[in-house]
Amino acid sequence: MVEENGSIRTLSVDIGGSGVKAIVLDVMGNPITQRGRLETPQPATPEVVINAIVLLAAAQGEFHRVSVGFPGVVRRGVTETAVNLHPTWIGFDLATGLSQHLNKPVRVINDADMQGLGAIAGKGVELVVTLGTGFGSALFVDGKLVPNMEMGHHPFRKDETYEQQLGRAALEKIGAKKWNRRLERAIATLEHLFNYDYLYIGGGEAVKVDLRLPLNVKLIPNITGLLGGIALWRD
Ligand code: BGC
Repeated sequence: MVEENGSIRTLSVDIGGSGVKAIVLDVMGNPITQRGRLETPQPATPEVVINAIVLLAAAQGEFHRVSVGFPGVVRRGVTETAVNLHPTWIGFDLATGLSQHLNKPVRVINDADMQGLGAIAGKGVELVVTLGTGFGSALFVDGKLVPNMEMGHHPFRKDETYEQQLGRAALEKIGAKKWNRRLERAIATLEHLFNYDYLYIGGGEAVKVDLRLPLNVKLIPNITGLLGGIALWRD
């Protein structure tokens, strides 16, 4: 890279079930552009989502590398699940595909993992859940990520998963009051399971959380999903 380290800019991208977002971060991880957002094109195949990212990238100015948070299991740049996008994502090499379009190095990680990297303190057991189209989860031990922890599709109650009970579709169906009661039960369950030092709750629907939260449970703004992108380049 010809630039001095201090001027390296990272394009951080968050692929969601309803929106694709992008921002440029400086080398410290501070945002230096206005966040761009496009509705996730439907059906959300790799091709149309990559086109949306290319459009967003063009509006973000100069950058040298790219971090992507993807709503599914990701291993070595390849997307292995995509419950809320399109089945053609299964086995798709997103890191290589996007890198060919943008001519920049690309690193890809699960979206909740990326959100967590932007939120954690780096000490003890830290759990992150994201409330959006899907239900995301990430676990960190002394700052080290346990990758691809997919709690969303794990049974929670009444023969339904966390995502079925607390995802956006459920919120829209049962309303915020009942959804908050369910969330309170989920927090209690997770506390007993993980005995976390901190729980962070993020995602687009975290703004609807209306509970008296214990002191070690914190709501985090949705922009955290993008801010975590800098951590993918901390080698
Ligand atoms: C996916 C997770 C993702 C979450 C939030 C779930 O449906 O399986 O990988 O983190 O949605 O987008």
